[in-house]
Amino acid sequence: MIIHDARFLTSNSRADLCPAPTMPEYAFIGRSNVGKSSLINMLTERKGLAKTSSSPGKTQLINHFVINDNWFLVDLPGYGYAKVSKTSRAEWAKMINYYLRNRANLMCVCVLIDSRHAPQAADLEFMEKLGEEGIPFVMIFTKADKQSTAQTKALVTDYLRKMSEIWDELPRYFLTSAETGLGRDEVLDFITEVNSE
Ligand code: GTP
Ligand code: MG
Repeated sequence: MIIHDARFLTSNSRADLCPAPTMPEYAFIGRSNVGKSSLINMLTERKGLAKTSSSPGKTQLINHFVINDNWFLVDLPGYGYAKVSKTSRAEWAKMINYYLRNRANLMCVCVLIDSRHAPQAADLEFMEKLGEEGIPFVMIFTKADKQSTAQTKALVTDYLRKMSEIWDELPRYFLTSAETGLGRDEVLDFITEVNSE
């Protein structure tokens, strides 16, 4: 897919105020600091499109971007950030759950996982919930540039082994790096494929 146009549309704290669901939508979610906003910039080749930060908790709202005037890309706030209060956590859950359950044009949730870390309960639980609710998702392992290719492969293999204890059929997954552009074509090809179904 060639990205000839990528622009920010809106930020919302309420799913019911999101843009009219007129085009297929792909949402990026995962722990705070996993690299959601960076991946969006890498995919669109627009450096400052989604705001990134080295400190977790940067993205707070549901952010809609329009790509090529024919699909929506959504940057969501991260979960699992220790310094967030109980109240904020509950608000996050309410906002995200409502969004995930009610967004009619949501084609697929991209769950981002830091390729460096062993499986974390927050991610496993989040994916289990998606499974229970029948919401389609794929896994995107981020920051693959942080270690050697062999190490990334070993870490991902371990992760998938853990997933296979829970899942009969493993979700589709991608390896990416916002630094090197690894996985860009694969993720965009996947979106093209789903868009044309
Ligand atoms: P929140 O919005 O706070 O939930 O974070 P986020 O998931 O959007 O993460 P963000 O894209 O802001 O990136 C967090 C930090 O990780 C930044 O310092 C990025 O530069 C860094 N980062 C993101 N992706 C990569 C990557 O692929 N490789 C490397 N080396 N660093 C990355
Ligand atoms: Mg972000």
